[in-house]
Amino acid sequence: MPLRLAVCVSGRGSNLVALLRALAGSALARVVLVLSNRADAPALERAREWGVKAVSLANPRDGAEWLRHLHGEQVELVVLAGYLKLVPAEVIAAYRDRMVNIHPALLPEFGGPGMYGHHVHEAVLRSGVGFSGATIHLVDEEYDRGAILAQARVPVLPGDTPDSLAARVLKAEHLLLPVVVLKAAEAGRPVPLPEPLELPA
Ligand code: GRF
Repeated sequence: MPLRLAVCVSGRGSNLVALLRALAGSALARVVLVLSNRADAPALERAREWGVKAVSLANPRDGAEWLRHLHGEQVELVVLAGYLKLVPAEVIAAYRDRMVNIHPALLPEFGGPGMYGHHVHEAVLRSGVGFSGATIHLVDEEYDRGAILAQARVPVLPGDTPDSLAARVLKAEHLLLPVVVLKAAEAGRPVPLPEPLELPA
């Protein structure tokens, strides 16, 4: 039986689509539900195009509503892929060690409250580091602080803008997320990858 996944989204949904593409025809894992805090998130449209049940939460702060949907679809692993709001504590507790988030930088640097979207890439460029990348980590009660499962590194290049860096990191996200999900499906739970993925510019 494929591992039953929910993907939680707030916006565009490119990671969702990367995952759907990678899992097409897979016997290991299947996206059975997409949840959003925003009814107008383009990601919901992407989900429907792929024939996946897509739900806009009436009250994203209501954990009972989340759990009704997640349990209703017998979801075993929750993937936060560009979900920009706080997940209710009872959902985190119910899916402890079975909920992952993708973050567009190399945690533990450049994470925490306020570190999302272009803010992350601006902070990376300001710091002068030579690398950025994507991190997938377990979700716990603290923003971006759960155990790191996997990272993919990309170089920061001379002349990078927040947009050019974001685009390079996003490609890394699209490669990394399916790898981690398929590993989790094989193991029956999210597991750390032994090595960081090194990606060219
Ligand atoms: C990604 O950069 C992800 O790391 C971050 O939000 C962005 C979502 O992009 N958490 P998309 O909706 O998957 O296109």
